[in-house]
Amino acid sequence: MDSTLPPGGTANQHYDVLILPKADFEGPQRRRSSWWKSTQPLAGHENLPLSVREGVQRSNGFAPETHDKGSLGCGRAKLRMRSTTALVRELRQSDVSFVDGLVALAFGRPGRPQLGPNAMPPGEICYVAEIDGTRVGFGAARGYGEVAYIGPMAVDPSVRRQGIATSLLRALIAFFQGSGCGTFLLDATESGAPLYERFGFADVDRTDVYERDAKAGISAESAVGLNERDFLQAAAIDRRITGCDRRVTLRRFAQDSNASLAVHKHGFAITHGRVVGPWLADSGSVARILFHAALQVRPEANIVFVPRSNQEAISLVTDAGFVLKRSLRHLCGGGPSPMRRMSIFGQGSLAHG
Ligand SMILES: CC(C)(COP(=O)(O)OP(=O)(O)OC[C@H]1O[C@@H](n2cnc3c(N)ncnc32)[C@H](O)[C@@H]1OP(=O)(O)O)[C@@H](O)C(=O)NCCC(=O)NCCS
Repeated sequence: MDSTLPPGGTANQHYDVLILPKADFEGPQRRRSSWWKSTQPLAGHENLPLSVREGVQRSNGFAPETHDKGSLGCGRAKLRMRSTTALVRELRQSDVSFVDGLVALAFGRPGRPQLGPNAMPPGEICYVAEIDGTRVGFGAARGYGEVAYIGPMAVDPSVRRQGIATSLLRALIAFFQGSGCGTFLLDATESGAPLYERFGFADVDRTDVYERDAKAGISAESAVGLNERDFLQAAAIDRRITGCDRRVTLRRFAQDSNASLAVHKHGFAITHGRVVGPWLADSGSVARILFHAALQVRPEANIVFVPRSNQEAISLVTDAGFVLKRSLRHLCGGGPSPMRRMSIFGQGSLAHG
């Protein structure tokens, strides 16, 4: 088994990570000061198999020694530990039903990352954590050039607070940092946010989930505007507003069998399944036109993920009968977010931004 964690790891690599029982921590003060450099020897690791020591060291290679604002990393590995070992590996096709079940269990509702026939969705990295061959956790992220969007992340309730999500997150960050990504964004639940804060993530906004009563069925209306020219126009607008190259993700949304795409010179809206989003526009008036076009073509659409900082978006969705159902913390780690959230009226999803 390959126990190292190289930047930009490739398919089918396995990473050894340590799961630290809570009782093994030396206390909050010690923990806080445990940022370290990967070149430093790890106190307390002498009795661990070499492969495990190396795996931990490499997996912390991105961690700075001090907890500077904007830096990412978690210094957990320096703590006294026993040799409970978990494996973090890439997702396989045979993991799909496990992930479905875990995500449904963790979030209290069905929902899954959009896994393709080969399990790993294009442009994404998905990791599964195992203890003694039993799968216990899942984490995913997707890269948009210099930005990566993290989510979903879920751990089996029976093994929470043992560092499994920390290991998954560390592996995801290392992967994307290895491919030149410096900014990490995500929408966190209240219970999930402390995990990210330990890596240096900070609140930059909120993402509110608005819903309205579902209209039965899926519209028989054929997809509108799903031609390449419209798609490329939408992708160019998306790049200007988000500062990221999200073409792979946009194409996935647009290729959903129930997707519609409405494009304007100054904005676009994709409706996929029951979600209106990504829905981006330079002004509220353009956003209004796009929203009404989207709802006209897909009257069954009843979910919008709205950046809290975009008050015009909130007015548009509430005027259309949507009500606030949930709210998440929009967190940023590493470099500053390039996204103009005031021009984002609806995200594509909570995991994709
Ligand atoms: C959030 C979640 C993924 C964390 O998994 P985990 O393996 O238990 O996380 P870790 O053990 O690595 O936790 C690391 C740190 O994060 C913080 N943390 C994790 N869960 C927390 C919780 N429920 N409340 C407060 N802090 C929490 C703690 O600081 C924790 O360190 P500690 O145990 O030493 O205090 C898991 O609780 C889960 O699946 N929740 C349901 C789904 C969800 O909310 N996903 C996150 C979406 S953003």
